[in-house]
Amino acid sequence: MKPTRIFAIAILALAAIIGTTAIIINNLRDTGGGSGFATTSVSLGGPFTLTDNTGRRVTEADFKGSWLLVYFGYTYCPDVCPTELQEMAVVMDMLGDAGNAVVPVFITVDPERDTTEAMAEYVAAFHPRMVGLTGSLADISSVAKEYRVYYGKVKDPGGDPDAYLMDHSSFIYLMRPDGRNAAVFNGRMPAAEMAQAIDGMLRAN
Ligand code: NI
Repeated sequence: MKPTRIFAIAILALAAIIGTTAIIINNLRDTGGGSGFATTSVSLGGPFTLTDNTGRRVTEADFKGSWLLVYFGYTYCPDVCPTELQEMAVVMDMLGDAGNAVVPVFITVDPERDTTEAMAEYVAAFHPRMVGLTGSLADISSVAKEYRVYYGKVKDPGGDPDAYLMDHSSFIYLMRPDGRNAAVFNGRMPAAEMAQAIDGMLRAN
């Protein structure tokens, strides 16, 4: 068996015993440099109302029928977010025609700075089909809770109130067309492996 498969099964077993997605997230974080993904029937994701990169208010219903590849981050992120979003873009291109069933989605955890305009410009730099979602602090707090996303402000040591960083968890969520979670990927998985895993799930659907 491939290490990623063994990893996924171990996570599934844990999830079955303990039944919380938080445990899955913790284990993904503890893989110590390895790549991997977990599939789970544990509830992850849910209803939301957010503003897309064209300024339109959208809900989960607007995406029904599409698979979603979801990442949470922020446009000022110096390193992790651009790397993950670039990987999502590469995965989308690797999926080829099958990727038409998938919408790549970037949800900000920094809505104070990530305006609709900032999000529009940012997502366009990664993939033409990528959707950027922002909203009020309450909107973002709500959707982050549903995905068990951790985030928090890290103040600028120089004291500049606008130069803060955001600490945040970093996972890529594959959501099924009915809104249920299909898999959670950690960012260390090579794009080719992720594309292969997603392609398999799209075909099995
Ligand atoms: Ni980031």
